[in-house]
Amino acid sequence: MSWSAVTVAPVHDEMVSDLDAVRASYDAVADNYVDMVGDPGPWQRVALEAFAEQVRDVGPVLDAGCGPGWVAGLLHERGVDVSGVDLSPRMVEHARRRHPSIPFDVASVTDLRPAAASLGGVLGWWSWFHLPRGVLREVIGTMAVSLRPGGRLLIATHCGNGELRRARCYGDVPVDWTTHLYQPEDVAAMLTDAGLPVAADIRLPPAHPAGSPALIMCGDKPR
Ligand SMILES: C[S@@+](CC[C@H](N)C(=O)[O-])C[C@H]1O[C@@H](n2cnc3c(N)ncnc32)[C@H](O)[C@@H]1O
Repeated sequence: MSWSAVTVAPVHDEMVSDLDAVRASYDAVADNYVDMVGDPGPWQRVALEAFAEQVRDVGPVLDAGCGPGWVAGLLHERGVDVSGVDLSPRMVEHARRRHPSIPFDVASVTDLRPAAASLGGVLGWWSWFHLPRGVLREVIGTMAVSLRPGGRLLIATHCGNGELRRARCYGDVPVDWTTHLYQPEDVAAMLTDAGLPVAADIRLPPAHPAGSPALIMCGDKPR
């Protein structure tokens, strides 16, 4: 599935003001990111394996914020019909090079309006924490509409209150982005309000002393 055909004009001013800086930042770190970020370990992998098993027979899956595509690659290996989009053209270049049989497009998740009931699954895997609260709620609502009955929305994000400004990342490269921290209860409420009751809620401690705890949450569209 090509996502360049289903993007529409952005509607959320709050997000649009930040997109250029986030895109430029991920373009700048992409080459380092490919070398520095890999397999996230067994607890995160187990969530992806469970997701793959549950969505494989429901319909196509969109990895929205796919980076260099390792998650899409894992799902593809498990027999999932997966495609990816990312805001950063350089990330998409890496994804296409590393996974030539998977379709990847450059797009912001905030611009996507997939057809109603067209997808078996959507991933916001460590990529939606740049979305402020109102925008995240809107994106979850849009993606919920796109899911078929039995479809799943899987989110991995940073837990906490408030937001963090990052100025250097992934090998001390200058970046300019905001990480919005979310409480699990807030994400659960957004999923439930969108008609996706929470089916899995995994909390992981920070991976390093300066980090924040991780939240992995899956909302399921009732059959
Ligand atoms: C920390 S990386 C995670 C990438 C990948 N999901 C992974 O687990 O390796 C965050 C990714 O989200 C992308 N991203 C940020 N905001 C986005 C948006 N509005 N739409 C699509 N992708 C976005 C960035 O370009 C970057 O590739």
